[in-house]
Amino acid sequence: MPSIHYQYLVDGKDFTMAGEASSSLKQTLKMMNLNPDVIRRCAICMYEGEINMVIHANGGIIDVDIFPDRIIMELKDKGPGIPDVELAMQEGYSTANEEVLNLGFGAGMGLPNMKRSSDEMKIDTVINVGTTVTMTIYFHQPESSGEK
Ligand SMILES: Nc1ncnc2c1ncn2[C@@H]1O[C@H](COP(=O)(O)OP(=O)(O)OP(=O)(O)O)[C@@H](O)[C@H]1O
Ligand SMILES: [Mg+2]
Repeated sequence: MPSIHYQYLVDGKDFTMAGEASSSLKQTLKMMNLNPDVIRRCAICMYEGEINMVIHANGGIIDVDIFPDRIIMELKDKGPGIPDVELAMQEGYSTANEEVLNLGFGAGMGLPNMKRSSDEMKIDTVINVGTTVTMTIYFHQPESSGEK
């Protein structure tokens, strides 16, 4: 299936740039006239994922593929990895340090929000190698399979 591909580099050193990729994607999706609720959910997924790459993993690369029926966001970093994904997914769990907390991050709500806002989310992570978070959002919810 044909897709449109976008790539964003996320700088892990510059906190002031955090959020650039999600803002840029949001503008692109607006120009494509996508459903506002889809755009809102994509922006949440991208923003939370992008911030995680900056504060926990020293940046990385985001690949976005837009298909006729869905958008796939793949966020790849070469950070420390996530030792316990189930724990990391819990609301309120965070390993953020003092500096990060002072910047207003570290509530432990990013991953749960990404999960809630996407239709599918997968985390591939290897300690000391890196983490890849892949999220899919469908443009139309599949019809509920009621009786015909
Ligand atoms: N890309 C990543 N690389 C390594 N660890 C990560 C990554 N993303 C998340 N984590 C780990 O999972 C924990 C939970 O992430 P989550 O986004 O839910 O919360 P947070 O980033 O700590 O706080 P918040 O997102 O609310 O600002 C993080 O504190 C961190 O330990
Ligand atoms: Mg986070």
